[in-house]
Amino acid sequence: METAEAASNLSGKHIVLGVTGGIAAYKAVEVVSRLKKLGAHVHVIMTRGAQNFVTELTFREMSDEPVITDMWAKVTHYHVEHIALAKLADVVLVAPATANFLAKAACGMADDMLTTTVLATKAPIFVAPAMNTAMYENAMTQENLERLRAHGFHVIEPASGQLACGTSGSGRLPEPVELVSVLEQFFDSGAQGADASVRQKRDLVGRKVLVTAGGTHEPLDPVRYLGNRSTGKMGFAVAEAAAQRGADVVLVAGPVGLATPVGVRRVDVLTAQEMHDAVLREYADTDAVIKAAAVADYRPKERAGQKIKKKDGSLFLELVRNPDILKELGEKKQQQVLVGFAAETERVLEYAAGKLKKKNLDFIVANDVSRKDAGFSADTNCVTILGRDGTHTEHPLMSKRALADIILDRVAGALSQGRA
Ligand code: CTP
Repeated sequence: METAEAASNLSGKHIVLGVTGGIAAYKAVEVVSRLKKLGAHVHVIMTRGAQNFVTELTFREMSDEPVITDMWAKVTHYHVEHIALAKLADVVLVAPATANFLAKAACGMADDMLTTTVLATKAPIFVAPAMNTAMYENAMTQENLERLRAHGFHVIEPASGQLACGTSGSGRLPEPVELVSVLEQFFDSGAQGADASVRQKRDLVGRKVLVTAGGTHEPLDPVRYLGNRSTGKMGFAVAEAAAQRGADVVLVAGPVGLATPVGVRRVDVLTAQEMHDAVLREYADTDAVIKAAAVADYRPKERAGQKIKKKDGSLFLELVRNPDILKELGEKKQQQVLVGFAAETERVLEYAAGKLKKKNLDFIVANDVSRKDAGFSADTNCVTILGRDGTHTEHPLMSKRALADIILDRVAGALSQGRA
């Protein structure tokens, strides 16, 4: 029987893990362990600084591969040249990446094995900066990161929280599980392309993208609510893809059990009214809205203060209308590109076309949620995108993450044509 681990898309991949000299180097040990469990081959390169925090032996034991610590050491394991790992890599991850490493990489320096490999590889490169907040926020570090992004590096934004230096703020290395998940999502999305030298698109830099995801809960009493089966997967995939393409992403999420994609600002809401208020607060300076949420059209007129007790006979609920958020956005539209979703069970294109017009949208993504492999809770989707210009584009069944990029291609196209 195939195990869950063996099913990972990282299985069999050669991952070069660069570890630099920050206190978070200890977390890289768990990254190795997780990658190994998923069936990946992990080749660790440690900088001199990293060796002050964790020993080479630890990584050697964990990875079951030789660990490179010195570019000038006699090479016994790899095929001689100092760029052997650069060629072998399917992906390079530098975690933690210190300010010093980022500065060197941004200048194209190659003064140790890690920087040399980074410069020589054609594989996608991910860097996970981890340092004290002041160093992270320093304009020079930020400029270096911008330069790296411009050269196609994927920057995994640091988390906020308590730092080893005693302060609290941005600069913490994300948890190993999140780092591994970034790589899995990358390979899942197909973003790496057939040619490993194809780097991530950065066509949404400087754009603010507002995404809604998940369903809403409309309370009946303190323990019950009216809800729907939306899981939020489509909206979260769009938010993640938009962040990877460089956008400033706000994700307004209903109650769902999904982790926040790296680099995304998340606002949690429960009801349609709360979603309405959160979306309108963010709307004015937004460039594009992708409204993947399944919003309840009605809510119970009364919300009982105490749990409703059963009585003889039937119970009648009176429902009142919730605001149609997207329709309101359409009415208030200025520069924004608006994308809606139409989840239908019949007459899919006809209903979707009606919503496109009624809500003043640029595009609507129509899907038949009666299919098992599309719509709620599935990881895949099969849609037709209708444009306000009358175009209908049918897309085959694909992962929601791949579809997210297709939707964003349309958004980026509209933005570049001056729709915003
Ligand atoms: N939508 C919204 N606010 C609502 C209802 C829907 O913003 N109160 C948005 C959804 O996020 C989606 C689009 O409008 O992007 C279409 O949602 P859908 O539920 O398919 O359509 P409705 O307008 O609710 O129409 P109907 O219930 O008649 O199918």
